[in-house]
Amino acid sequence: MTKGVCAVVLAAGKGMRMKSSRAKVLHEVCGRPMLHYPLTALSRLGIRQVVTVIGHCQAQIRPVFSSYNAVFVEQKELLGTGHALMCGLKGLKGFKGDVLVLSGDTPLVTVDTIKAFIDFHKRKGAAISFVTALLQDPSGYGRVLRNAENRVIKIVEHKDASPSERAVCEINAGIYLVQSGFLFDNIKRLGSKNAQREYYLPELVGLAVADGKGAVAMTHTDPDEVMGVNNRVELARANRLMQRRITDALMLSGVGITDPGAVYIDDGVTIGADTIIRPGATLTGKTSVGANVVIGQGAIIKDSVIGDGSDIRPYSVLDSCKTGKGVTIGPFARIRPETVIRDFASVGNFVEVKKSRLGKGAKANHLSYIGDSIIGKDVNIGAGVITCNYDGVEKHTTTIEDGAFIGSDSQLIAPVTIKKGAYVGSGTTVTKDVPRDSLVVTRAKETVIRDWARKTARRRGD
Ligand code: UD1
Ligand code: CA
Repeated sequence: MTKGVCAVVLAAGKGMRMKSSRAKVLHEVCGRPMLHYPLTALSRLGIRQVVTVIGHCQAQIRPVFSSYNAVFVEQKELLGTGHALMCGLKGLKGFKGDVLVLSGDTPLVTVDTIKAFIDFHKRKGAAISFVTALLQDPSGYGRVLRNAENRVIKIVEHKDASPSERAVCEINAGIYLVQSGFLFDNIKRLGSKNAQREYYLPELVGLAVADGKGAVAMTHTDPDEVMGVNNRVELARANRLMQRRITDALMLSGVGITDPGAVYIDDGVTIGADTIIRPGATLTGKTSVGANVVIGQGAIIKDSVIGDGSDIRPYSVLDSCKTGKGVTIGPFARIRPETVIRDFASVGNFVEVKKSRLGKGAKANHLSYIGDSIIGKDVNIGAGVITCNYDGVEKHTTTIEDGAFIGSDSQLIAPVTIKKGAYVGSGTTVTKDVPRDSLVVTRAKETVIRDWARKTARRRGD
C-alpha cells in the first residue's frame, strides 16, 4: 500500500518557542526524542525513501539518528516550511509517486492514521491531500478555508488570518500527500509575501485548487493526535497524552497500574502480565520487567531487567542492572550499573550495590556497601558490612564464595577472598584471604571494668 510513496520530514525549524539551546526535535516525549516518532512510524509503514530536513542544529541531530533509516538534508537558511520541503526534494530527484510530508514536531500521529490518509489520498486522486482537525482552541494553527459547497479553497496561517478567518476551527495538521509531478512543478511558485516573510508549504493547497488540480482534506477526529509541539507547555501535554497511550496499552496487556496518572513509563519499556506498578514509579530507557513483579511506590528503574516474581520495594533506585527471578530489593536500596542479582537473592534497605554479582539466594539486607564484588550463592551479609573497594588510586575486587557468612559491621579490604563456607565474626576488618570453612575475627579482647562509672563519678542522674 505504501508502494510509490516516499516521505519528507520537516525538522529544521529553530523551535524558538521552546527557549532552548537544544534542537526542538531532540526534546523528549516519553524518553524518545520527538523526531523518533515520525521516523519510526514511517519505518513501520514500510516507507523506505525518507528525507529529513534539518537546520542549524544538524550536528546535534545527526548522531542521535545515525541508526535510523533517514537521509538528512540541510536547510541552510530557515525560510519557512515551503522552503524546507524544497530543500528536502533535493534528496528525491527523479522520484515519481506520492510525497508524504510530516513534521518533526508532531509526535502523536499514529501509523493507523497515516495508513488511512494514504488510502484516502489514493482514493481521491487529488494533486494534494492534507489532514485537518477541529479544535476548540485553534489559535496558532493554519485555518482551512472552504467555499459554500464545503470544498477546500486554501489554508491561511494564523498570523495572516482576518478575525472571521481566525474564527474557523478547522486547522491544518501539517500532514500532506502531494503527487510528485504537481510538487516538482509548483514548489517554486510559493511566495513569501505574508506576515512571517516565509515560504509557506500550505500555500500549495491554494495553488492546486486555483489550477483545478484538486486539494482534499481528511478530517481527523482525534485532535490530540495531530497536536504540534511548539513550546514546553505543549511538550508536557504531548508527554501526558503519549503516557496515557503507553499505560492503556500496558493495562490492556495485563499489567496492573494502581494510578496511571501517577506513574512514568517510557516508550519501549516492556512489562509482563500481573505485574503491579504502584504510584510514583518511574520506568525508563531500555527497561524490561517480567511477570508477577511488584514495583513499589516511588521506585526508579532505568535501563534494567527485572526477573519474574520480583519485589522492588518503595523508593529503590536501580540503574543498568539485571535481576533474576523472585528477587527482593529495597525499600530504599540503590543498585548501580553493571550489577547482576541472581534468583531469590535479596538486597534490603539502605544497601548500595555497585558493579557486583550476587549469587542465588544471597542476602544483604541492611545498611551495606557492596562494590566491585563477586558474591556466591546463599551468602549472608550482615548489617553494615562494607567492601572497601578503593585504595585511593585503584578499585579492587572482593570475592565471597558460596555459603560464607559475613558478620555485621565488618569491613572487607579488597582485594580479598572469603572462601566457601567461611565465617567473618562481627566487627572484623578482613585484610587477608580467609580459608574455606574457617572463622576470622579481629575484635580486640573485651574488657569489663567493674564500678568504673561510680568510681569516676560519671554515673548519670546523681
Ligand atoms: C505549521 C503550518 C500550519 C499548521 C501547523 C500544524 C506552515 C507555514 N504552517 O505551523 O498551517 O497548522 O504547522 O502543526 O507550514 N520547519 C523547517 N524549516 C523552516 C520552518 C519550519 O524545517 O524553515 C519545520 C519545523 O521544524 C517543524 C515544521 O516545519 O517541524 C512546522 O514548522 P512550525 O514553525 O512549527 O510551523 P507552525 O507554526 O506550527
Ligand atoms: Ca509546529
